[in-house]
Formats: sequence, C-alpha cells, structure tokens
Amino acid sequence: MDKKTIYINYQVYHNKEEMPADLQKVVDAARKSSLNAYAPYSSFRVGAAVLLSNDIVFCGNNQENASYPEGLCAERVTLFAAMANYPQESIKAIAICGNPIHFQLPHPLSPCGACRQVMVEYENKFHHPIQVVMCTMSGECIVVESAKDLLPLQFSSNDLNGK
Ligand code: THU
Repeated sequence: MDKKTIYINYQVYHNKEEMPADLQKVVDAARKSSLNAYAPYSSFRVGAAVLLSNDIVFCGNNQENASYPEGLCAERVTLFAAMANYPQESIKAIAICGNPIHFQLPHPLSPCGACRQVMVEYENKFHHPIQVVMCTMSGECIVVESAKDLLPLQFSSNDLNGK
C-alpha cells in the first residue's frame, strides 16, 4: 500500500486592483452578470464570465426552474453558451461570483462538482488549462491555474477510451 497526498496551489487577491488587467475584466463581467441571474427559488444569484483565446469575454448566470432540477448553474450556462458560439476558441479563464439577495457571501464562491467536471472537459478539448477565479462581489478573489486543481483524480474521455 502506498500513501499519497495531493496539494493545490492558489493565489488570494485581496481586491480586484491587485489582479492582472485581463482577470479584472472577467471578474467585472461575472459580478455584473450576477444581477441578471434568474434565481426566484433560491434567491442565490451567481454570475460567471469566461475569457476566450480571442479575448472576448462571454458571460452568463444561473437559471432556475419551477421544476427545480431543470435549472442550471451560472458556470455551465456560460461555458455551454460560449462554446456553442465560439467552438474554436479555447478558454483562458472563468470567473465566478455569488451574489445572494438576502445576505453577503463572506468568502469567494467555489464552483459545484458538476461545473468542475464541465470545465475539465473543455481543458481537455483544447489542451489548455483554464484559470478559475472565485470571487466575492467586492473583495477577495481566489485563483487556481487549472480546473483540474479543483477536481483531482478526475474522470475524462481517457477513461472511456481505456487510456
Ligand atoms: N449555483 C451556481 O450557479 N453555481 C455554483 O457554483 C453553485 C450554485 C446556483 C444553482 C442554483 O441556482 C443556486 O445557485 C442555488 O444552489
């Protein structure tokens, strides 16, 4: 038996101004997009934005439904819409920002497991890591250099192909 440990590195920015300009742009877009979330059931608005390899910023937000499971997280709304419109552009970064209606989030929003899986799929499609920027509405942001950092030992198409 072997015992192994997985570590992740991440950066903590205390405010937006500390970040590189391209990340500031995508954080701004995610924060703004949270205001357009359709979250009448949870009141938990989430905004997301991706920075594509052509430098376009594409944003989205969570979309809920009276039949609860049919709703979709902001990250997947954004990733699927961006990839439907720009299928040849790799994704440089995704920013995510939680903006609940009834309280302020005390720490940056971390993406759910299903959204991490979808991010990893596009990393593999383009052989390019996606920086994941997890944000509050006005303060701290946490950045990991790859979605894989958030999903160790991930399942991928390699598994389907016996690799
Ligand atoms: N939600 C997101 O949009 N992204 C996340 O990473 C976590 C949760 C949404 C789904 C649902 O509309 C609401 O937040 C409450 O779970």
